[in-house]
Amino acid sequence: MKATPPLALLLSIAVAAPTSRSTPDYSRLTVAIVRAETASWPMPLMNKKWTDVQFTLNATIAKGIKLIEEAASNGANLVVFPELWFPGYPKGIADPRSIAPLLANYIDDFLTINSAHWRILIHTAATRNIYIAPAFSHLENGVLYMGQALISSNSTSFIRHKLRPSGKERDIWSDGTMDYMTFSMQSQAETLHPTAWPYTPDIADPRAAYWESLEMNLAVARVFAVNANPPLVFASVGNARFLDPQDLDLAIVEAETSTEEVPLVYQSFNTTDLAMTVPYTTHSEQSWSIL
Ligand SMILES: *[C@@H]1O[C@H](CO)[C@@H](O)[C@H](O)[C@H]1NC(C)=O
Ligand SMILES: *[C@@H]1O[C@H](CO)[C@@H](O)[C@H](O)[C@H]1NC(C)=O
Ligand SMILES: *[C@@H]1O[C@H](CO)[C@@H](O)[C@H](O)[C@H]1NC(C)=O
Repeated sequence: MKATPPLALLLSIAVAAPTSRSTPDYSRLTVAIVRAETASWPMPLMNKKWTDVQFTLNATIAKGIKLIEEAASNGANLVVFPELWFPGYPKGIADPRSIAPLLANYIDDFLTINSAHWRILIHTAATRNIYIAPAFSHLENGVLYMGQALISSNSTSFIRHKLRPSGKERDIWSDGTMDYMTFSMQSQAETLHPTAWPYTPDIADPRAAYWESLEMNLAVARVFAVNANPPLVFASVGNARFLDPQDLDLAIVEAETSTEEVPLVYQSFNTTDLAMTVPYTTHSEQSWSIL
């Protein structure tokens, strides 16, 4: 069987302050990175047996809101979720015997923009004055995409689709469009790069296929960061981290740490110089001038 590299969703954003209300001090931005599993998901991390486990978007939204509220209470300005956290990454998708009985239920557990569930996220961002970057199975015009969004505290949202779902993911999700290409993002002077990965074990985990390994996925994230130089959020169930603009680890929580005890990783950083960057540069590693 062909291997399935779950390459991350990548979203390019520039964090801007809302125009009204009491504006937090965004010169020191605090990101909360979700590393807890979705509401209904086989644990421990590398267990892919779906016996007696059913996806439920509703319960996942409820758990997601609890995490967002916890993050807001701890002073976070932005919460970033792992890939397909709503309603949960279909772990074991590379082995159809494991997940096949759940697929119909899974496909029905999509999120649509402006649904009641979506509006709960919008409402929470507004009432808690926090930005939310959910990653979700997105149904749009009858087609499912691997979606990621940035929901602002002023109720505006930006949506992105993974350009090319990996391997078996293509049985469920369709391709995004060309404007989601990595190059377009790398060639902009990003101020923050939140990436969403499904789940990541710790280094040298013998149970991990190469496409699940920390070594491979973190390498991909580091290559992005070192080319584009934004701080990078590595949101993932299990091993989650925050890389500085030079691509080095500022915060790490290992997968072996209980997700109940530590559901979120926090990192604050000084945005002063980042906020002064131009929207694009012709001199960076990836630049429009080389095209
Ligand atoms: C809402 O926030 C977004 C992102 O931070 C910003 O681009 C937009 O201008 C804001 N809209 C209003 C009406 O303030
Ligand atoms: C969805 O969750 C909410 C809040 O957690 C609950 O009040 C509601 O009854 C749930 N709906 C369904 C259909 O399970
Ligand atoms: C943030 O960075 C700016 C520019 O480098 C610096 O002047 C300022 O002192 C820094 N703030 C903190 C709290 O470190």
